[in-house]
Order: sequence, then C-alpha cells, then structure tokens
Amino acid sequence: MDTQILSGKVVSASVYKGLKSRIVKLKTNSITPCLAVVLIGDDAPSHVYVKNKTKKFASLNLNSETIKLTNETSENALLEIINNLNNDNKYHGILVQLPLPNHINNETIINAIDPKKDVDGFNPVNLGRLAAGRPSFIPCTPKGIMRVFEYYKIDLSNKHVVVVGRSNIVGRPISILTSLKRKYSNATTTICHSGTKNISYFTKQADIVILALGSPEYLKGNDIKEGAVVIDVGINRVKSQTKTGYKLLGDCEFSSINGKASCISPVPGGIGPMTIAMLVENTIEAAEKSANFAL
Ligand code: GUN
Repeated sequence: MDTQILSGKVVSASVYKGLKSRIVKLKTNSITPCLAVVLIGDDAPSHVYVKNKTKKFASLNLNSETIKLTNETSENALLEIINNLNNDNKYHGILVQLPLPNHINNETIINAIDPKKDVDGFNPVNLGRLAAGRPSFIPCTPKGIMRVFEYYKIDLSNKHVVVVGRSNIVGRPISILTSLKRKYSNATTTICHSGTKNISYFTKQADIVILALGSPEYLKGNDIKEGAVVIDVGINRVKSQTKTGYKLLGDCEFSSINGKASCISPVPGGIGPMTIAMLVENTIEAAEKSANFAL
C-alpha cells in the first residue's frame, strides 16, 4: 500500500496563512502578541525547541522574550518571576519550558501561571476545561495533531484510536480530544501506558495509533494493522556519526511502517511544526482575549 506522508510543514503553513488577518487586526489596534518564555538550565534539546519557537515569532513579526535562568534558580525565585509576568500586561502568553531541574516542582510552577496566559494549556484550570468538553487553551501538540486530522480529512468518528503514553503534555489531552463529541473527533479511544500488559495487542486493533512515549522506533510494522493511520509524536535524540553527533528518531520504525500504514506523520517534519503553529495561535488568542476582541 502507498503510505501518505502527513506533512506538518504543509498544514502549519496553512495555519499561518489563516492567522494573518488576526495579526493585522491586533496590530491595527496597537497590540502585538507577546510571549514570555522561561528557560531554565542547560538541557540542549530545550534550548533548540525554544530557539525554534522564538524564531517563528520573529518571522511573523510577533514579539517574544526569553528569560534564561541557571540550573541553580530556586523555586521561589521562579515563582516570583512568573508572578511578575502574570501581572505585566505586556505579556499575553507565558511558557515555562519543561523539563525543569529536579529541585523545582513542576506542578507548583504550572499552577502559578495565570490560566489566561497559559498558552501551553498545562494549568489544571485549562486541562479541566478540556476534560469537561469546554476547552479554553488546548495544549499545543495535541491541538496540532487534531489540525492534521482536519486538514487531511481523517474523520475519527466510529474509529478506534489507540494512544500510547499518558503525559499531561500529549497522551492525556489527545485521548480527551479524540473522544470529544465534535467534528473530526468522536472516536473510541484507548490509552496505553507503562502499566499496560501487552501494548501491541491494542495497537494491532487500532484504526489510528498516536505514539507519545519517547522510545526510539518502538512501534514496528508488525504492531499495526494494514491501512492504519500512524501519528508519531516522539522526538528522540540518538547518537550518530552526523555533524551534530546525533540524529532524530520518532517513536515508530519508519521503514517497517511505511508501506503498511495508510498515512504516517514523519519525524522530523510531522507533528513538530504543528506544536509551534499552535503556540503561535494560542498566543494570538490570548492577545485577542486580553483586548476583549470578538473573533
Ligand atoms: N517540553 C516539551 N514539550 C513542551 C511543550 O509543549 N511546552 C513546554 N513548555 N515544554 C515542553
């Protein structure tokens, strides 16, 4: 079977095109959406992700400021910075790049971000709204996956979606989104995780498999049924003889999935660009809400 590539580059380009008029309207009203990014420590992938995010904001003439902090920053110092960002009208969105150093409690920090500026959608208020079926800010990666389904007209209604991974960043919210009673959703969703005995028993039954576990080339062709849709959210750095010293691998083995799946989102160039596009969209939405704009 010919496997179609689901290109996040193509879908995100159409998202940016659609956002143009909203940016113009905000700017006409003297508002330039502005994102504050807090980056702590020297985790190399986090530095790359943040650079890619802020580069995109600059290319769209949107504002972003990165606050770089050392690994030794205390939880209290970080809470004070977030409090200042919450109270400064200049910033419409706040993003604290994860993972945080071990001495800082993720939950305490995420809880401190004003839900109105929580463009990551990680604050329990926003996750709760999503779980209740009345979302405000939706986490960027799951939101981006749903946009890929819409763009390629992959309707999940009456389909079996199997999600592998239960993080608050991807697995949990995508399991909620895919099962909401909404256009392109309405799926029967199963969520597998480290407590699941035989994950391939479930993935073999899936019409759509969504992988977000962070294990390079975990899913093989033998683990899916012919014609399944595979969404690969994994971005795993694996040592290689390249100039950078590493290459990026997804959570699925492309070579054995290709030819068996009907569609696959590749790594890189699949879901990654969608995460950034949805961050831009959420920041624009935050700016619009701050100005009480009707959409
Ligand atoms: N670390 C990995 N993905 C993300 C994300 O989407 N947002 C933040 N803040 N940190 C991350």
